[in-house]
Amino acid sequence: MSLSVHTELSDAAERLIRGRRATRAFRPEAVPEDTIRAVFSLAGAAPSNSNAQPWRVEVVSGPARERLADALQAAHAANRTSVDFPYSDDMYSEVQQARRAAFGAGLYGALGIGPDDLASRAAYNAESLRFYGAPHAAFLFVAGDGGPRLASDVGAYLQTLLLAMTAYGVASCPQGLLSFYADTVRAELGVGEGRLLVGVSFGYADETAPVNRVTAGRAALDEVTTFHG
Ligand SMILES: Cc1cc2nc3c(=O)[nH]c(=O)nc-3n(C[C@H](O)[C@H](O)[C@H](O)COP(=O)(O)O)c2cc1C
Repeated sequence: MSLSVHTELSDAAERLIRGRRATRAFRPEAVPEDTIRAVFSLAGAAPSNSNAQPWRVEVVSGPARERLADALQAAHAANRTSVDFPYSDDMYSEVQQARRAAFGAGLYGALGIGPDDLASRAAYNAESLRFYGAPHAAFLFVAGDGGPRLASDVGAYLQTLLLAMTAYGVASCPQGLLSFYADTVRAELGVGEGRLLVGVSFGYADETAPVNRVTAGRAALDEVTTFHG
């Protein structure tokens, strides 16, 4: 096999894609508005089936962020969950479960939470509804019929958004947990259309937080990819 060709762009892509990681502790200062607009404008360049662009995005900052964080905490305390996309642990295969367990061990280990300390895990997750302290959060809704094909387009938007943020020095954490409070988000933000797929907390990383040094490995290339020819 010939050696792969590195260009300035491929080197930049390696840095950008491998440089993104989920951030779970943020500094409080806001991201300037022009940076936020640049990032979401770039995210809009994501591909979608027939260019339908079936995403609707709601971004909260300042008092709107505070109100929503309070409402999410209240919904959590009252056990008021609501999902637009059904969830079950059973959806994962055995190998996927093993990857999730390895990731969880790394994350909770870095937080000093033991494997059997379910109460501390639950408390950490509940606190994450305050966006891990990030000054901003985005909510990605799937418009149209909200079915799996349109949801996969919004998945492409999600990754484009995360990479755009990375390129502009903005740290992020996609949070599926936020989608478990879909009705709360809808009511707080006055959203009428679409199904809530995921929330994304974003801002500047707190580089001193040990949790931000957690790295998640990936399956080997040949484990997930078959080349036919
Ligand atoms: C759709 C989606 C939902 C996620 N939900 C959560 C979440 O609720 N809480 C959280 O802390 N991280 C969440 N993550 C982050 C993943 O745990 C993280 O992306 C994965 O472990 C790989 O680590 P990396 O992003 O640092 O490479 C989510 C990621 C994605 C793509």
